[in-house]
Amino acid sequence: MKAGIIGYGSMGKMLLWKFSKAGNIAKQDLMVSNRTVEKLKEAEEIACIVTSRQLAAEADIIFVCVRPSDIKQVLEEIRDVIGKDALLVSLNGSVSFETISKLADCKTAKVIPSLTAEIERSQTLVCYNAKVNAEDKVSLTDLLKCIGNVIELPEEEMGMGSELVSCMPGFIASIFDVICTSAQGHTAIPKEQIVQMVLSTMSATGDLMLQKDMTFEDVVTRVATKGGITEEGSKVIYEGFPATADLMFEKTLEKRRITTENAEKQIAE
Ligand SMILES: NC(=O)c1ccc[n+]([C@@H]2O[C@H](COP(=O)([O-])OP(=O)(O)OC[C@H]3O[C@@H](n4cnc5c(N)ncnc54)[C@H](OP(=O)(O)O)[C@@H]3O)[C@@H](O)[C@H]2O)c1
Repeated sequence: MKAGIIGYGSMGKMLLWKFSKAGNIAKQDLMVSNRTVEKLKEAEEIACIVTSRQLAAEADIIFVCVRPSDIKQVLEEIRDVIGKDALLVSLNGSVSFETISKLADCKTAKVIPSLTAEIERSQTLVCYNAKVNAEDKVSLTDLLKCIGNVIELPEEEMGMGSELVSCMPGFIASIFDVICTSAQGHTAIPKEQIVQMVLSTMSATGDLMLQKDMTFEDVVTRVATKGGITEEGSKVIYEGFPATADLMFEKTLEKRRITTENAEKQIAE
C-alpha cells in the first residue's frame, strides 16, 4: 500500500514520522508534498518528496493535512488525478463530506488525532463517507494504530467527539492547573513538587481505572469513606463543578459551530 501526505505542517509531519517509525510503510511507498518545498529536506531520509499531483495519482491513501483555507486549492489541484479506489483523508474536522464531495467526489474519511499521538496514545477519531468500504476502513485503521486507538463515529458526532478526546488534554490540563494553583495557597510545598505529585497521581488513577475496569464512582467510593476527608472535598466538586462543565461544553460547541461555518464559507468563496 502507498500512502501520501499533502502538507508538512504540525499534523503532516507528525503522521509522516510516526508512519515511518512504525515501519509498516517502506520509504518508496511513503510520499510527501508541501507548498514550501524547502521544508521537506529533513523528510528525504524517510519519504519520497513529490508534487501533490504525483502523490494523488499514486497513493492508495491520501492525507490532506492543510488548513481549511488551503483545502479548496489542494483539492482543485489533485481532483482529476486521484485514483478511483484511493481513499482521501481530511485532517480537518470542520469541512463536511458534502462540501469535500463538491471538490473531489471520491472515497473520503475525516481523521482527528489527539495530542497524545506524540506518545502513541492518541484517541484518533475517524468517520467515513458512504463510498468507503470495509476494506478501506481496515487499511486506514491499521495505518493509524501506530499513533494509538482508533474510534469510528458518525460524521455528526465528530464535533462532540473532538471535545472528548482532541480538546480534552487541554481541558484536563486547565482543571489540574486550577487545582495546583489553589493548593499553593494552602501549603509550603513548592509549586513544581505539587504539580509533580498531582500529575503522577492523575496519570496513575487513569491507568488504574483502565487496567482494573473501574468507574469514576468506584474510585470515589474507594477513596471517599463516609464522613471522611475526601468525601468533604468530593461533595464540593459534585455540587459546584457541573455548572462549569455545562458552560464549558456550551461555549466550545458554539465556537465549533462558528468555526465550521467559517471553514465552509472559506471553501465556498
Ligand atoms: N494542529 C493540531 O493539533 C490539529 C489537530 C487536529 C486536526 N488539525 C487539522 O489538521 C490540518 C492541518 O493543521 P496543521 O496544524 O498541521 O497546519 P499547519 O501546521 O499550518 O500545516 C499546514 C501545512 O500545509 C501546507 N500547505 C498549505 N497549502 C498547501 C498546498 N496548496 N499544497 C501543499 N501543502 C500546502 C503548509 O505549507 P507551508 O510550509 O507553505 O506553510 C503547511 O506545511 C488543519 O485542517 C487542522 O484543522 C490540526
